[in-house]
Amino acid sequence: MQEERSEREKDKVVVLDFGGQYSHLIVRRCRELGVYTELVPYDVSITELERGVQRNRGASKIRGIILSGSPFGVHEPDSPRCSTRIVDLGVPLLGICYGAQLLAAMLGGVVTTGGKGEFGRSELMFTDSALFEGVSEAGTTPVWMSHGDVIERFEGAEILGSAANAPVAAFQIHERIYGVQFHPEVHHTEMGDRILWNFLYSICDCERNWSIAAFVAEAITKIRDAVGLDGKVLCGLSGGIDSSTTAVLVNKAIGDRLTCIFVDNGLLREAEREEVENTFRKSFKMNLLVVDAKSRFLEALKGVKDAEAKRKVIGELFIIIFEEAAQKLGNVAFLAQGTIYPDRIESAKAGSAKSSRIKSHHNVGALPERLGFTLIEPIDELYKDEVREVAKDLGIPAQIRNQHPFPGPGLAARIMGEVTEEKLRICRAASRIVEDELKRSGWYEKVWQAFATVGDDLATGVLGDARKEGRLVTIRVVESKEAMTADFVKLPYELLERMSNRITNEVKGVTWVTYAISSKPPATIEPC
Ligand code: XMP
Repeated sequence: MQEERSEREKDKVVVLDFGGQYSHLIVRRCRELGVYTELVPYDVSITELERGVQRNRGASKIRGIILSGSPFGVHEPDSPRCSTRIVDLGVPLLGICYGAQLLAAMLGGVVTTGGKGEFGRSELMFTDSALFEGVSEAGTTPVWMSHGDVIERFEGAEILGSAANAPVAAFQIHERIYGVQFHPEVHHTEMGDRILWNFLYSICDCERNWSIAAFVAEAITKIRDAVGLDGKVLCGLSGGIDSSTTAVLVNKAIGDRLTCIFVDNGLLREAEREEVENTFRKSFKMNLLVVDAKSRFLEALKGVKDAEAKRKVIGELFIIIFEEAAQKLGNVAFLAQGTIYPDRIESAKAGSAKSSRIKSHHNVGALPERLGFTLIEPIDELYKDEVREVAKDLGIPAQIRNQHPFPGPGLAARIMGEVTEEKLRICRAASRIVEDELKRSGWYEKVWQAFATVGDDLATGVLGDARKEGRLVTIRVVESKEAMTADFVKLPYELLERMSNRITNEVKGVTWVTYAISSKPPATIEPC
């Protein structure tokens, strides 16, 4: 048993996050290159890093540390700093941009502010070193810069490269401490992958230990170990990519000792419940408990008009229904949840002084505490695109893998004012038409989210010879980066016209269709 465990402890590289816009990208690039890499806050204790370097029982060994960029300059009073003892840890270090300037400032280099920085493409002139092995015969290579401050001089370091406005664009000390002013993690740095590869494999001597197939095998073994030979697991399955991937992984590990609960709250998209039943009960042959709670949700939502109040009603009722189902099943000690890496990082950052946002995504967040469950979170090391790859590896159908995000409160987030049967019918049918038309025209996978919304506004239309008031439906189609900001998609008029015609012809009671052209901010993606 002991042997098995040590075999699974994987070596890793850690990225100290000083708040740079590319910190996550560094982690992803290193993982793509085959090395398990984690993002940790810049103020992680030095003792924790020391323990990681020395490898404690059960923990991974840190083979190298990368210091990220930052929106701060090293001379700003509040600039984030790590312990100076980081250089005594004995493992290779690579400072990138601010990280390089911080190392220089710690070790006797001169960093100046207020001169000419560089933003965008630049040409690096470099000399031979392990870091630039195989980069180019000519000794120059295009790199991506984004810095205002400059490392002017660095006595005590060997200067490995320079660029137009960066006299010290790369340096090394004792072939162990490296710094680069440019961003190797950004695609515009043409040989960036090679430079990171050199750091990971030649300088840190990492083993290739990260691949989707290896992750899946390891995740399954870990679940088996955690749950034991007769433990039972519950999983709240929404049909989204994260909970679906979690459920299939746990099912592969412990078979029918997993029960998934799918709550039909009546706020689902058209045919959503049937798709979940088909996929998980029929194809994957999993234990799937479908709780029909449509009337309870609609009853609880009666008369509730305020957006936040609706969310609260839905969230609380969801927990009660899940709790009832769990109690009925009895004797279940574990709850599997589809937490992913960015969720974990965001909650970890919540206590850090440099954090700028906190989000809580999980509709079942309050459950583990209330029911005394032990949590199983098999995909909490993965980024969204990695989850998609794992899902593919597990045979989860493309329809689930490629679907747009759908909010926890379901169609209630798309119905302004009170949620009624009539508005639900209109929202569901019109959204289906929007999705159909996008899929048919090849737009669906190019956009972040697409749906129809409906409220209480009525507008006059002509039906046959009679004027008649009907509902006003608004189409919302946005492009976005991780939902933090969004912009409306400039769809061709012909496509919008087709959607509009179909909605007024096929969805009873609709007279007008409009297109939402507000960005986020100031609007949000969902209207409620
Ligand atoms: P907003 O409307 O705030 O939405 O711009 C940002 C993203 O989050 C989704 N969303 C939710 N997801 N539970 C969820 O799991 C929720 O309560 C929730 N509210 C909004 C929304 O669809 C968009 O992708």
